[in-house]
Amino acid sequence: MKLIRTKNYEELSRKAANIIAAQITLKPDCLLGLATGSSPIGTYDNLVSMYESGNLDFSRVRSVNLDEYMGLGGDNDQSYRYFMNKHLFERVNIDMTNTHVPDGTVLDSEKACAAYNALLAEMGTIDLQVLGIGPNGHIGFNEPDDHFAAETHCVDLTDATIQANKRFFENEADVPRKAYTMGIGNIMSAKMIVLVANGKNKAKALAAALKGPVTPQCPASILQFHPNAIIIADEDALSELE
Ligand code: F6R
Repeated sequence: MKLIRTKNYEELSRKAANIIAAQITLKPDCLLGLATGSSPIGTYDNLVSMYESGNLDFSRVRSVNLDEYMGLGGDNDQSYRYFMNKHLFERVNIDMTNTHVPDGTVLDSEKACAAYNALLAEMGTIDLQVLGIGPNGHIGFNEPDDHFAAETHCVDLTDATIQANKRFFENEADVPRKAYTMGIGNIMSAKMIVLVANGKNKAKALAAALKGPVTPQCPASILQFHPNAIIIADEDALSELE
């Protein structure tokens, strides 16, 4: 793993965006794996600025997102499809038909996961996967568990994740209890991974992921085995590492 230390969130966001922009410039029809959540918002803002200044062209870029809440459609402002449209897709010249998020409206989880796995197989290898990390070490919605899941599957969100994500909802009761997520195998098959982490609430999980044992109890620790994983983290997120 390569670790890039930054002073703050702004620097982290610029550096992550520069790497993604280089990927798009080198391979204009690249397949990006994308994440939602607060961590990559600044990265997406920087990508939008590069597009607006004429330095980046998304017209041939293709994308697959990591995860989606079960039960939420794209018009629900808490869905991850809505998030992606708002923070990136509607602000750049990406072809919406080239963007993919698991379909939260399909309540038959086997059907939903099989459809997304088929889509991932059809799209081919992810060139660059963007990740955040949960305070419990999750990546995508791969929660701490006794095994690493290979492919897209349906998860029961842990209480820690419900607590962490309730800030986006009016009431804790509104946070969906289930989600569809790409598996660890899907994530690990990406050619390059860029994980962004900021803030003190990520410090313990990041230290466990970077220096602890590789274990499904800290899903992000599997990145130690990836040949091209880049961790971009600010001082607060790295505060438990030294
Ligand atoms: C989101 C995702 C999650 C988040 C993680 C961190 O698509 O896959 O793993 O990256 O929960 O969330 P934030 O960035 O909101 O702290």
